[in-house]
Amino acid sequence: MGELLRVDNLNVYYGSIHAIKDLSLHVNEGEIVTMIGANGAGKTTTMHTISGLLKSRSGSITYDGHLISKMDAYKIVTLGLAQCPEGRRVFSGLTVQENLELGAYSRKDGKAAVQDDFNMVFDMLPRLKERRSQLAGTLSGGEQQMLAMGRALMSKPKMLLLDEPSMGLSPLLVKEIFKTIVRVNESGVTVLLVEQNAKMALNIATRGYVIETGNITMEGKASDLADDPKVRQAYLGGAA
Ligand SMILES: Nc1ncnc2c1ncn2[C@@H]1O[C@H](COP(=O)(O)OP(=O)(O)OP(=O)(O)O)[C@@H](O)[C@H]1O
Ligand SMILES: [Mg+2]
Repeated sequence: MGELLRVDNLNVYYGSIHAIKDLSLHVNEGEIVTMIGANGAGKTTTMHTISGLLKSRSGSITYDGHLISKMDAYKIVTLGLAQCPEGRRVFSGLTVQENLELGAYSRKDGKAAVQDDFNMVFDMLPRLKERRSQLAGTLSGGEQQMLAMGRALMSKPKMLLLDEPSMGLSPLLVKEIFKTIVRVNESGVTVLLVEQNAKMALNIATRGYVIETGNITMEGKASDLADDPKVRQAYLGGAA
């Protein structure tokens, strides 16, 4: 399968803080690739730079044949690259249905296609269907996370950037979220997944990258990383 996303020698600063240092990674079409790393390693910064919310000082990002490193975020979404941000940002004063409609806002492929995707999202996330008229702010944390993912899916992405989708969820909901990610991927969406739950992320991913203080320090097949003693020690709770 072809390469869908390529990040080359990316450098990102916050003022004088050099947050991302010569970072390179790639994601092939159809893959789930995970980036694992400790708090503050630079995962969210990388994701925000790919989605255009932050600009790099140097390096390049190519998505689906387009150089996107200098493109505005809204334009990147129209190319089929959607981000589901950390911390479940849903519009709490709007209903579930209205939040999902906002996700489809930038599409130009007609009402019927959007309706099809409503049905697809409701099939994939049945909890949202039952709660379509409920205000998003009254959903549980896990339901809000699902809504944020559903909203990203409504933009009909070819690729989804997921930043800590399992954060703050109960073990049961974490399982449900990971199952949903696999279903989304099986429906044809390529995924770049950032997770602190390294064990589950490596379990569903094809490949993975380890990021430490803005640098990629390891990369490889997810199963190889999961077996690596250093990864096990640092990110998998040292389990033998
Ligand atoms: N707006 C900002 N201004 C200054 N420094 C920032 C800003 N945002 C992030 N940083 C710094 O950049 C580094 C990378 O942060 P980032 O949020 O990308 O980490 P992360 O890997 O997503 O961590 P976490 O697992 O806690 O979400 C950290 O040292 C952080 O303090
Ligand atoms: Mg983060």
